[in-house]
Amino acid sequence: MCLIRVFDRKKRIEAEDRAPVHSHEAPDTAREGRMASTKDYVLGTHDEEIERLGLQHRAWRLHAQEAWHSAGIGPGQVVLDVGCGPGYAALDLAEMLGSSGRVVAIDKSERFLRALDATCRERHICNITTHSADLEADEFPTVVADRAWCRWVLAFVKNPRTILARIAAALAPNSVMVLHEYFDYSTWRAAPRCPELEEFVSVVMASWRDSGGEPDIGLCLPLWLEELGFEIRAARPIIDIVSPDHPSWTWLATFVQVGRSRLIEMGYVSPSRAESMWQAFINFQATAGARMITPGVLEIIAARR
Ligand SMILES: C[S@@+](CC[C@H](N)C(=O)[O-])C[C@H]1O[C@@H](n2cnc3c(N)ncnc32)[C@H](O)[C@@H]1O
Repeated sequence: MCLIRVFDRKKRIEAEDRAPVHSHEAPDTAREGRMASTKDYVLGTHDEEIERLGLQHRAWRLHAQEAWHSAGIGPGQVVLDVGCGPGYAALDLAEMLGSSGRVVAIDKSERFLRALDATCRERHICNITTHSADLEADEFPTVVADRAWCRWVLAFVKNPRTILARIAAALAPNSVMVLHEYFDYSTWRAAPRCPELEEFVSVVMASWRDSGGEPDIGLCLPLWLEELGFEIRAARPIIDIVSPDHPSWTWLATFVQVGRSRLIEMGYVSPSRAESMWQAFINFQATAGARMITPGVLEIIAARR
Protein backbone atom coordinates (compact mmCIF):
# COMPACT_ATOMS: atom_id res chain seq x y z
CA MET A 1 0.00 0.00 0.00
CA CYS A 2 1.31 3.46 -0.85
CA LEU A 3 0.50 6.07 1.79
CA ILE A 4 0.49 9.77 1.00
CA ARG A 5 0.00 12.47 3.63
CA VAL A 6 -3.43 13.86 4.37
CA PHE A 7 -3.11 17.60 3.77
CA ASP A 8 -5.02 20.80 4.45
CA ARG A 9 -7.81 19.09 6.37
CA LYS A 10 -9.27 22.31 7.75
CA LYS A 11 -9.80 23.69 4.23
CA ARG A 12 -11.59 20.47 3.27
CA ILE A 13 -13.91 20.70 6.28
CA GLU A 14 -14.90 24.27 5.37
CA ALA A 15 -15.44 23.24 1.72
CA GLU A 16 -17.87 20.41 2.52
CA ASP A 17 -19.91 22.57 4.89
CA ARG A 18 -20.50 25.03 2.00
CA ALA A 19 -21.27 22.42 -0.66
CA PRO A 20 -24.87 22.18 -1.93
CA VAL A 21 -26.85 18.92 -2.02
CA HIS A 22 -27.20 17.62 -5.61
CA SER A 23 -24.68 20.17 -6.87
CA HIS A 24 -24.80 20.96 -10.58
CA GLU A 25 -22.02 23.49 -10.27
CA ALA A 26 -18.62 23.75 -11.94
CA PRO A 27 -16.16 20.86 -11.46
CA ASP A 28 -14.06 22.65 -8.78
CA THR A 29 -17.08 23.20 -6.59
CA ALA A 30 -18.33 19.67 -7.17
CA ARG A 31 -14.93 18.41 -6.06
CA GLU A 32 -15.20 20.46 -2.88
CA GLY A 33 -18.45 18.60 -2.26
CA ARG A 34 -16.46 15.37 -2.01
CA MET A 35 -14.31 16.64 0.84
CA ALA A 36 -14.59 15.63 4.48
CA SER A 37 -16.52 17.62 7.11
CA THR A 38 -17.28 17.70 10.79
CA LYS A 39 -20.82 16.54 9.91
CA ASP A 40 -19.31 14.00 7.56
CA TYR A 41 -18.30 10.41 8.21
CA VAL A 42 -15.54 8.26 6.76
CA LEU A 43 -17.37 7.48 3.49
CA GLY A 44 -18.39 11.10 2.88
CA THR A 45 -21.74 12.81 2.29
CA HIS A 46 -21.19 14.07 -1.25
CA ASP A 47 -23.76 13.64 -4.02
CA GLU A 48 -22.06 10.55 -5.45
CA GLU A 49 -22.35 8.94 -2.01
CA ILE A 50 -26.05 9.85 -1.82
CA GLU A 51 -26.56 8.06 -5.15
CA ARG A 52 -24.41 5.12 -4.05
CA LEU A 53 -26.46 4.67 -0.88
CA GLY A 54 -29.60 4.55 -3.04
CA LEU A 55 -28.10 1.84 -5.19
CA GLN A 56 -26.96 -0.01 -2.07
CA HIS A 57 -30.45 0.17 -0.58
CA ARG A 58 -31.99 -1.22 -3.78
CA ALA A 59 -29.54 -4.14 -3.69
CA TRP A 60 -30.44 -4.77 -0.03
CA ARG A 61 -34.13 -3.86 -0.07
CA LEU A 62 -35.43 -7.45 -0.05
CA HIS A 63 -33.17 -8.44 2.85
CA ALA A 64 -34.29 -5.35 4.76
CA GLN A 65 -37.98 -5.94 4.10
CA GLU A 66 -37.67 -9.56 5.17
CA ALA A 67 -36.08 -8.44 8.44
CA TRP A 68 -38.78 -5.80 9.00
CA HIS A 69 -41.51 -8.40 8.50
CA SER A 70 -39.80 -10.78 10.95
CA ALA A 71 -39.64 -7.95 13.47
CA GLY A 72 -43.37 -7.32 13.09
CA ILE A 73 -43.03 -3.80 11.70
CA GLY A 74 -46.46 -2.65 10.56
CA PRO A 75 -49.10 0.08 10.33
CA GLY A 76 -49.43 2.62 13.11
CA GLN A 77 -46.05 2.04 14.73
CA VAL A 78 -43.33 4.55 15.53
CA VAL A 79 -40.02 3.34 14.07
CA LEU A 80 -36.60 4.87 14.67
CA ASP A 81 -34.24 4.82 11.70
CA VAL A 82 -30.92 5.35 13.46
CA GLY A 83 -28.21 6.76 11.16
CA CYS A 84 -30.75 6.99 8.35
CA GLY A 85 -28.44 8.52 5.72
CA PRO A 86 -30.45 10.08 2.86
CA GLY A 87 -33.41 7.98 4.02
CA TYR A 88 -33.92 5.27 1.40
CA ALA A 89 -34.95 2.76 4.07
CA ALA A 90 -36.94 5.41 5.95
CA LEU A 91 -39.03 6.01 2.81
CA ASP A 92 -39.87 2.29 2.49
CA LEU A 93 -40.61 2.06 6.21
CA ALA A 94 -42.93 5.08 6.02
CA GLU A 95 -44.95 3.27 3.36
CA MET A 96 -45.21 0.14 5.53
CA LEU A 97 -46.32 2.16 8.56
CA GLY A 98 -49.04 4.07 6.75
CA SER A 99 -50.38 7.47 7.69
CA SER A 100 -51.08 6.42 11.30
CA GLY A 101 -47.43 5.45 11.82
CA ARG A 102 -44.26 7.51 11.83
CA VAL A 103 -40.57 7.13 11.06
CA VAL A 104 -38.20 9.17 13.17
CA ALA A 105 -35.06 9.41 11.04
CA ILE A 106 -31.85 10.43 12.83
CA ASP A 107 -28.48 11.28 11.31
CA LYS A 108 -25.65 13.69 11.92
CA SER A 109 -25.30 14.66 8.27
CA GLU A 110 -27.33 17.77 7.42
CA ARG A 111 -26.76 17.06 3.72
CA PHE A 112 -28.33 13.60 4.01
CA LEU A 113 -31.25 14.93 6.05
CA ARG A 114 -31.83 17.76 3.57
CA ALA A 115 -31.93 15.19 0.76
CA LEU A 116 -34.53 13.16 2.68
CA ASP A 117 -36.61 16.25 3.51
CA ALA A 118 -36.55 17.22 -0.19
CA THR A 119 -37.77 13.75 -1.22
CA CYS A 120 -40.58 13.89 1.35
CA ARG A 121 -41.68 17.27 0.02
CA GLU A 122 -41.54 16.07 -3.61
CA ARG A 123 -43.56 12.91 -2.85
CA HIS A 124 -45.92 14.54 -0.31
CA ILE A 125 -44.81 12.15 2.45
CA CYS A 126 -45.87 13.42 5.88
CA ASN A 127 -44.99 10.54 8.22
CA ILE A 128 -41.21 10.96 8.37
CA THR A 129 -39.65 13.30 10.93
CA THR A 130 -35.96 14.04 10.44
CA HIS A 131 -33.79 14.74 13.45
CA SER A 132 -30.26 16.03 13.21
CA ALA A 133 -28.04 14.55 15.91
CA ASP A 134 -24.60 13.15 16.43
CA LEU A 135 -25.55 9.84 18.02
CA GLU A 136 -22.46 9.98 20.22
CA ALA A 137 -22.83 13.52 21.49
CA ASP A 138 -26.33 14.95 21.08
CA GLU A 139 -29.71 14.28 22.62
CA PHE A 140 -31.87 11.59 21.04
CA PRO A 141 -35.30 12.93 20.05
CA THR A 142 -37.83 12.50 22.86
CA VAL A 143 -39.79 9.61 21.45
CA VAL A 144 -40.97 6.23 22.65
CA ALA A 145 -40.61 3.94 19.67
CA ASP A 146 -42.07 0.52 18.90
CA ARG A 147 -39.23 -0.57 16.67
CA ALA A 148 -35.71 0.57 15.83
CA TRP A 149 -33.86 -0.06 12.58
CA CYS A 150 -30.12 0.51 12.38
CA ARG A 151 -28.04 -0.52 9.37
CA TRP A 152 -24.34 0.10 8.68
CA VAL A 153 -23.98 2.78 11.34
CA LEU A 154 -22.39 1.17 14.41
CA ALA A 155 -19.34 0.27 12.29
CA PHE A 156 -18.58 3.98 11.90
CA VAL A 157 -18.82 5.29 15.46
CA LYS A 158 -16.37 5.40 18.35
CA ASN A 159 -18.81 4.29 21.07
CA PRO A 160 -21.19 1.77 19.49
CA ARG A 161 -22.23 0.21 22.81
CA THR A 162 -23.28 3.62 24.19
CA ILE A 163 -25.36 4.23 21.07
CA LEU A 164 -26.98 0.81 21.38
CA ALA A 165 -27.92 1.70 24.97
CA ARG A 166 -29.38 5.02 23.82
CA ILE A 167 -31.47 3.28 21.16
CA ALA A 168 -32.65 0.83 23.84
CA ALA A 169 -33.64 3.75 26.09
CA ALA A 170 -35.82 5.20 23.30
CA LEU A 171 -37.77 1.94 22.91
CA ALA A 172 -41.06 0.97 24.56
CA PRO A 173 -41.42 -2.28 26.55
CA ASN A 174 -41.94 -5.26 24.19
CA SER A 175 -40.34 -3.34 21.37
CA VAL A 176 -37.94 -4.83 18.83
CA MET A 177 -34.60 -3.71 17.43
CA VAL A 178 -33.46 -4.76 13.92
CA LEU A 179 -29.79 -4.51 13.05
CA HIS A 180 -27.79 -5.10 9.89
CA GLU A 181 -24.05 -4.67 10.52
CA TYR A 182 -20.99 -6.36 9.07
CA PHE A 183 -19.51 -9.19 11.10
CA ASP A 184 -16.73 -10.06 8.60
CA TYR A 185 -16.06 -7.42 5.97
CA SER A 186 -13.14 -9.41 4.58
CA THR A 187 -15.45 -12.07 3.12
CA TRP A 188 -15.70 -9.60 0.22
CA ARG A 189 -13.58 -11.56 -2.25
CA ALA A 190 -13.29 -12.18 -5.96
CA ALA A 191 -13.48 -15.60 -7.58
CA PRO A 192 -11.10 -16.11 -9.30
CA ARG A 193 -8.86 -14.21 -6.88
CA CYS A 194 -8.11 -10.54 -7.49
CA PRO A 195 -5.31 -9.42 -5.11
CA GLU A 196 -6.00 -5.75 -5.86
CA LEU A 197 -9.60 -6.16 -4.64
CA GLU A 198 -8.30 -7.79 -1.46
CA GLU A 199 -5.93 -4.84 -1.04
CA PHE A 200 -8.80 -2.38 -1.60
CA VAL A 201 -10.92 -4.14 1.04
CA SER A 202 -8.12 -4.12 3.59
CA VAL A 203 -7.40 -0.40 2.99
CA VAL A 204 -11.12 0.38 3.38
CA MET A 205 -11.18 -1.53 6.69
CA ALA A 206 -8.06 0.34 7.87
CA SER A 207 -9.64 3.70 6.99
CA TRP A 208 -12.76 2.88 9.04
CA ARG A 209 -10.63 1.77 11.98
CA ASP A 210 -8.45 4.89 11.78
CA SER A 211 -11.66 6.98 11.96
CA GLY A 212 -12.56 5.26 15.23
CA GLY A 213 -14.92 2.65 13.77
CA GLU A 214 -14.84 -1.13 13.59
CA PRO A 215 -15.99 -2.81 10.36
CA ASP A 216 -16.71 -6.16 12.07
CA ILE A 217 -18.80 -4.60 14.84
CA GLY A 218 -21.50 -7.25 14.31
CA LEU A 219 -19.38 -9.64 16.39
CA CYS A 220 -19.95 -7.50 19.50
CA LEU A 221 -23.68 -7.00 19.15
CA PRO A 222 -25.31 -10.21 20.48
CA LEU A 223 -23.55 -9.95 23.86
CA TRP A 224 -24.17 -6.20 24.19
CA LEU A 225 -27.85 -6.63 23.37
CA GLU A 226 -28.24 -9.35 26.00
CA GLU A 227 -26.44 -7.17 28.55
CA LEU A 228 -28.91 -4.38 27.72
CA GLY A 229 -31.88 -6.66 28.46
CA PHE A 230 -32.73 -7.84 24.95
CA GLU A 231 -33.53 -11.36 23.86
CA ILE A 232 -31.98 -12.32 20.52
CA ARG A 233 -34.97 -13.64 18.60
CA ALA A 234 -32.99 -14.29 15.44
CA ALA A 235 -29.43 -13.88 14.24
CA ARG A 236 -28.25 -14.91 10.80
CA PRO A 237 -25.33 -14.20 8.50
CA ILE A 238 -26.08 -12.78 5.06
CA ILE A 239 -23.41 -13.52 2.47
CA ASP A 240 -24.19 -13.87 -1.21
CA ILE A 241 -22.14 -15.10 -4.14
CA VAL A 242 -23.07 -13.00 -7.15
CA SER A 243 -22.33 -12.70 -10.85
CA PRO A 244 -21.95 -9.38 -12.75
CA ASP A 245 -25.66 -9.20 -13.64
CA HIS A 246 -26.71 -9.18 -9.95
CA PRO A 247 -27.65 -5.87 -8.22
CA SER A 248 -25.17 -6.65 -5.43
CA TRP A 249 -22.39 -6.75 -8.03
CA THR A 250 -23.30 -3.22 -9.14
CA TRP A 251 -23.42 -2.16 -5.46
CA LEU A 252 -19.90 -3.46 -4.81
CA ALA A 253 -18.44 -2.28 -8.14
CA THR A 254 -19.79 1.22 -7.45
CA PHE A 255 -18.22 1.12 -4.01
CA VAL A 256 -14.83 0.37 -5.57
CA GLN A 257 -15.37 3.18 -8.10
CA VAL A 258 -16.54 5.84 -5.60
CA GLY A 259 -14.45 4.51 -2.70
CA ARG A 260 -11.12 4.76 -4.55
CA SER A 261 -11.54 8.56 -4.95
CA ARG A 262 -12.35 8.81 -1.29
CA LEU A 263 -9.25 6.80 -0.35
CA ILE A 264 -7.11 9.13 -2.49
CA GLU A 265 -8.67 12.22 -0.86
CA MET A 266 -8.09 10.79 2.60
CA GLY A 267 -4.47 9.99 1.79
CA TYR A 268 -4.70 6.19 1.94
CA VAL A 269 -3.66 5.41 -1.63
CA SER A 270 -1.89 7.32 -4.36
CA PRO A 271 -3.88 8.12 -7.52
CA SER A 272 -1.78 5.64 -9.52
CA ARG A 273 -2.32 2.81 -6.99
CA ALA A 274 -6.07 3.54 -6.99
CA GLU A 275 -6.05 3.41 -10.80
CA SER A 276 -4.24 0.03 -10.76
CA MET A 277 -6.85 -1.32 -8.33
CA TRP A 278 -9.66 -0.09 -10.55
CA GLN A 279 -8.10 -1.51 -13.74
CA ALA A 280 -7.57 -4.88 -12.02
CA PHE A 281 -11.22 -4.82 -10.95
CA ILE A 282 -12.38 -4.01 -14.50
CA ASN A 283 -10.29 -6.92 -15.85
CA PHE A 284 -11.64 -9.26 -13.19
CA GLN A 285 -15.21 -8.16 -14.00
CA ALA A 286 -14.66 -9.10 -17.66
CA THR A 287 -13.37 -12.56 -16.75
CA ALA A 288 -15.68 -15.40 -17.83
CA GLY A 289 -17.40 -16.94 -14.84
CA ALA A 290 -16.43 -14.10 -12.47
CA ARG A 291 -18.16 -14.16 -9.08
CA MET A 292 -17.99 -11.93 -6.02
CA ILE A 293 -18.60 -12.96 -2.45
CA THR A 294 -20.27 -10.16 -0.55
CA PRO A 295 -19.01 -8.71 2.77
CA GLY A 296 -20.62 -10.65 5.62
CA VAL A 297 -23.57 -8.93 7.26
CA LEU A 298 -25.09 -10.08 10.53
CA GLU A 299 -28.84 -9.63 10.83
CA ILE A 300 -30.10 -9.44 14.39
CA ILE A 301 -33.68 -9.19 15.54
CA ALA A 302 -33.76 -8.54 19.27
CA ALA A 303 -36.77 -8.04 21.54
CA ARG A 304 -36.78 -6.02 24.74
CA ARG A 305 -37.39 -8.33 27.69
C1 LIG B 1 -23.22 3.70 5.47
S1 LIG B 1 -24.32 4.98 5.91
C2 LIG B 1 -25.81 4.04 6.15
C3 LIG B 1 -27.04 4.87 5.98
C4 LIG B 1 -28.34 4.11 6.18
N1 LIG B 1 -28.43 3.53 7.50
C5 LIG B 1 -28.52 3.04 5.14
O1 LIG B 1 -28.55 1.86 5.49
O2 LIG B 1 -28.62 3.39 3.96
C6 LIG B 1 -23.85 5.41 7.57
C7 LIG B 1 -24.67 6.55 8.15
O3 LIG B 1 -24.35 6.71 9.53
C8 LIG B 1 -24.32 8.09 9.81
N2 LIG B 1 -23.49 8.31 10.99
C9 LIG B 1 -22.22 7.91 11.18
N3 LIG B 1 -21.79 8.31 12.39
C10 LIG B 1 -22.81 8.97 12.98
C11 LIG B 1 -23.00 9.62 14.23
N4 LIG B 1 -22.02 9.68 15.13
N5 LIG B 1 -24.18 10.19 14.50
C12 LIG B 1 -25.19 10.15 13.58
N6 LIG B 1 -25.08 9.54 12.38
C13 LIG B 1 -23.91 8.96 12.08
C14 LIG B 1 -23.72 8.71 8.56
O4 LIG B 1 -23.95 10.10 8.48
C15 LIG B 1 -24.41 7.89 7.50
O5 LIG B 1 -25.63 8.47 7.14
